[in-house]
Amino acid sequence: MKEKFYITTPIYYPSANFHIGHCYTTIIADSLARYKRLKGYDVCFQTGTDEHGQKIENKAKEAGISPKEYVDQVVENAQDLWKALHISYDKFLRTTDHFHEKAVQKIFTKLYEQGDIYKGEYKGLYCTPCESFWTESQLVDGACPDCGREVHEVKEEAYFLKLSNYADRLVDYIESHPEFIQPESRKNEMINNFIKPGLEDLCVSRTSFTWGIPVPFDSKHVVYVWLDALSNYITSLGYMGEDDAELKKYWPADLHLVGKEITRFHTIVWPIMLMALDLPLPKQVFGHGWLVINGAKISKSLGNYRDPREYIKQYGVDAIRYFVLKEVPFGNDGTFSEEALVSRINGDLANILGNLVQRTISMGNKYFSGHIENKRVAEEMDQFLIDKINHLDNRVSNEMDQLHISSAISEIFSLLRDSNKYIDETTPWILAKDENLKDRLETVLYHLLESIRVCACLLEPFIPSSSLKIKEQLNQFDSNLKYSESNSYQLGKPEAIFMRIDLKAK
Ligand code: MSP
Repeated sequence: MKEKFYITTPIYYPSANFHIGHCYTTIIADSLARYKRLKGYDVCFQTGTDEHGQKIENKAKEAGISPKEYVDQVVENAQDLWKALHISYDKFLRTTDHFHEKAVQKIFTKLYEQGDIYKGEYKGLYCTPCESFWTESQLVDGACPDCGREVHEVKEEAYFLKLSNYADRLVDYIESHPEFIQPESRKNEMINNFIKPGLEDLCVSRTSFTWGIPVPFDSKHVVYVWLDALSNYITSLGYMGEDDAELKKYWPADLHLVGKEITRFHTIVWPIMLMALDLPLPKQVFGHGWLVINGAKISKSLGNYRDPREYIKQYGVDAIRYFVLKEVPFGNDGTFSEEALVSRINGDLANILGNLVQRTISMGNKYFSGHIENKRVAEEMDQFLIDKINHLDNRVSNEMDQLHISSAISEIFSLLRDSNKYIDETTPWILAKDENLKDRLETVLYHLLESIRVCACLLEPFIPSSSLKIKEQLNQFDSNLKYSESNSYQLGKPEAIFMRIDLKAK
């Protein structure tokens, strides 16, 4: 049986203004999901939209439509963007899906009946854009520590989740499972800044607005949006639904990928909910850094916003995917700029990858009408390339297992570079001048094609449509990740995969 891999992104607040930063989590998750599929895993890759809460209710009011009409409009925007980015999700959950709403009500009732949720009174400070409660001491300059916006005081009858009951168990779990919170720095932050100072019980219902899932036994309350949203990771698999076969198969999640600002919810509230529900905890929560522009978060109000689809139109989807995956050391913040993007396109994609493919396919067509086999007229220098091809799969796998995506890509580009060097060293154009060296020439091209083929397979998770274009030109579609002695190539026409871009000419 295939090993399973369940990977999730956060579910997004539906928005008409997704920016390139929003694409970051999803592109990374997509490349990991694709990679695991390539390695033979049974992958479930889930994303979706987080559609309840005051923020959405306010936006709908501004637009003069009902919240449901509003979310229906903007959810299409998310799906359209993921399509443009070639995101290969298996499941897309909307928190307004009926089965999800029903399951959340059952979760809430179960937690209430077993005493993990109780009724009390809430007095505190609330940040509506982040849907987060804060204590006075957590504020930064009197404002929300996450987004810097104004918080307002709320006082209402509310239900609470007893986080405090589980604090010790949570610390034990985190400490005995070093891989649970990654990167390491976030783990220390969670333990030292949030858990050790003492967990306050979390307010998990609201009465000041109505756009949410009603508490089933007290309908003037709606379920707090984070409790609703976090549940998505299990309701989508059928938890508290009619059929929980997928839950049995895929849970616990192998990886929740989240931005650093929501790591807290995923490593404190979510595990405690799961402990209370008597379900195993996810194997890993990875809190990644942000993509910033000139050191600032990306937003319309800062004037650095552009629709990601404009970049895709201008540079191609794989260039955007490649940039995000290669440029940002995973876990840290990274900077997005068009100059850096263009330099990646020119330096890596056009000069190294595009050039190698084009040169090799052109020579194969020119010297052998595209038909190439292994004539086995080998020389010593070939072995270096063959060994490198054979080791690539393992090298990439070592990096991917640690979520070092940028380094995994570097491994592939190292082979591509060496293949270009192999052309320069074997000088096929000189071999072509001598009829007696024809078999040697064909062997050289064969080795190059094998190198390109294996690289194209391993590049699929990162730049899927370019990988497919290369496979089409090679006319080879299997996923054998080792050097083969006996392929037979009938090449297609050379077609540029990436063009160099002159930013000044734009
Ligand atoms: N709805 C919540 C998540 C609930 S999960 C149970 C949410 N949504 S969000 O739309 O605000 O963010 C979705 C993801 O986009 C988060 O992982 C967030 O960190 C990420 N990003 C938003 N802006 C970003 C950057 N500028 N850079 C990188 N990622 C960023 O939070």
